[in-house]
Amino acid sequence: MSSATKLILAPIRGITDCHFRRIFHNYFPGFDSALAPFINPQRASNFKPNQVKDLLPEANLTLPVVPQLLHTNVQDFLFLANRLAGFGYTEINWNLGCPAPMVTKKKRGSGLLPYPDEILAFLDQVMEKIPIKLSIKTRLGLESPDELLHLLPLLDQYPLSEIIIHGRLGKQLYKGTTDLDSFARCLQRTKHSIVYNGDITSTENFKKLQTQFPEIDKWMIGRGVLSDPFLAGEIKGIYQQDKVHQLQCFHADLFACYGDLLSGQAHLLGRMKQLWVYLSVFFPPAQKTWKKIKKCSTEEKYLRVTKECFARASTD
Ligand SMILES: Cc1cc2nc3c(=O)[nH]c(=O)nc-3n(C[C@H](O)[C@H](O)[C@H](O)COP(=O)(O)O)c2cc1C
Repeated sequence: MSSATKLILAPIRGITDCHFRRIFHNYFPGFDSALAPFINPQRASNFKPNQVKDLLPEANLTLPVVPQLLHTNVQDFLFLANRLAGFGYTEINWNLGCPAPMVTKKKRGSGLLPYPDEILAFLDQVMEKIPIKLSIKTRLGLESPDELLHLLPLLDQYPLSEIIIHGRLGKQLYKGTTDLDSFARCLQRTKHSIVYNGDITSTENFKKLQTQFPEIDKWMIGRGVLSDPFLAGEIKGIYQQDKVHQLQCFHADLFACYGDLLSGQAHLLGRMKQLWVYLSVFFPPAQKTWKKIKKCSTEEKYLRVTKECFARASTD
């Protein structure tokens, strides 16, 4: 693997917050940077410091992070961009990919992709005044890959730092497969630096993608590393010993951290269970593991069941 290869931790809202990013990076090296989950759009006039709590510089000392905005109102976007520049950030990312119906129906995220004129009008105003670099994270389209194929050449006129493409349509949500042919066509239609994203779940499939797209040197991985936290390291040639023990220590640290931060066991268990949606894959059979964890209604039960998972995995 070329040393130019860069791995970026994908934003997974509800999981990859600053605490997760810090603890994860302490146990599982491999990522060069992370993209933060989007900041929920609110009017600049309603700004509360809580909105950017996840991005406070002191909470992000280990893994470099790029903040992400879902806003489509120019003034609100610029207000936050200035605020984040004040924190020392040199780049922010615009989310043009979120597929959640509640978001797309407001013409945000991938919901804006069928309206290229609105995207260009937004960028015309933002690029004039934004004090830091801007990148975009997007999908192939909301309804059709023709949407991004049409948009990409139009984006050449803006000095974007990069475009991250998740090779699905908004209407697919997370179902079906990534459309690698359309992703390949996108590469022909842009001058910008492109980051590949979508369904990197093993070193083998990463290598296949790398062979298929030799011009790509930045790769973003989300669910694949939540299911196998060692994946980014292994792609980079870092092989850790005593994996189950590592994972157990990571889990204990994360649990303790959220235990201190969140009030009440329902919040704590809810937060940990979001991770287990993916982490269960590490403890086959995944469905059975997930079902057991999902059922835990008290901290005590949760700790017992997870302890059993780690014990079983270390004897396998
Ligand atoms: C629960 C969940 C939350 C997500 N939150 C965000 C987000 O805040 N911003 C974003 O750009 N993408 C978000 N994504 C999309 C991922 O960053 C990524 O693009 C997608 O999962 C495909 O990559 P993967 O197959 O490597 O996971 C989210 C995905 C999931 C499943």
